Amino acid sequence: MSPQQNLAIVSGASQSNNVGIFMAASIAHEVNQPLAAIVANSHACRRWLSADPPNLDRGRTTLERIIRDANAAAELISRIGGLFSRGGARARTSVDINQVINAVWQSMADEIATKNVRVVIELDRDLPPARADRIQIQQVLVNLIRNALDALDTGADNARSLRIRSLRDEAGTIRVEVRDNGIGLNEFEQIFEPFFTTKKHGMGMGLAICRSIIESHDGRLWAAPNKPGGTTFVFTLPDHASDAEALRASHGAQ
Ligand SMILES: Nc1ncnc2c1ncn2[C@@H]1O[C@H](COP(=O)(O)OP(=O)(O)OP(=O)(O)O)[C@@H](O)[C@H]1O
Ligand SMILES: [Mg+2]
Repeated sequence: MSPQQNLAIVSGASQSNNVGIFMAASIAHEVNQPLAAIVANSHACRRWLSADPPNLDRGRTTLERIIRDANAAAELISRIGGLFSRGGARARTSVDINQVINAVWQSMADEIATKNVRVVIELDRDLPPARADRIQIQQVLVNLIRNALDALDTGADNARSLRIRSLRDEAGTIRVEVRDNGIGLNEFEQIFEPFFTTKKHGMGMGLAICRSIIESHDGRLWAAPNKPGGTTFVFTLPDHASDAEALRASHGAQ
């Protein structure tokens, strides 16, 4: 489903209003985290500078973090804008999905460390490159991992575990799985609707954004139950080579 189609679900507003609502909610959702980090680090920075004597080294390090997060937020906003315009596809390059998984995992290591979760990462070394917008695929992974951590918080009977896996399926398509043994799901489609949430402080935008991103890459995203419990989210992406072939074929057909 495209962002526009996705939005048809939000009733009572015209189509263009719907797109506006979806876009505003997506930006709010994605920028929330870096913004919270910027506020926290700004307070920390002020404390380091007001100390007697001022701790300039710590102040400088905190400031670097603020700059990093502010840049990340600006980048996220521009990529969300890209989801709604034809120009968005221009940010696609040949992307090593394994590298993206590793980078996301490292950037979330502190967050995960506080949760007492065993993380297993299984990467297919022969994975072909995807033609993708790296930042958008990072967003998808971050949202799926955050959801998995929430699901583990609410209900994992056994040792909490999270598995992130990349592989190439029988059809040659790149496939990424995020699997948790958390609370699990009863229904597997409604969760992708914008503003559907079961969480007290949730916006219900994470999965709607993920689906829009993956489908704009001509991939698919779905959820499936695990045995004995928990959920696996799976997304696919066409590999770069098949994408290049498709492009050649479409040019040849003209
Ligand atoms: N790994 C999971 N295990 C169990 N339920 C899940 C999982 N991921 C998502 N869900 C369900 O799907 C709903 C929608 O998820 P989504 O990420 O779209 O929104 P959210 O996490 O509630 O809020 P946010 O907008 O902050 O992401 C969740 O509220 C939860 O009920
Ligand atoms: Mg979420």
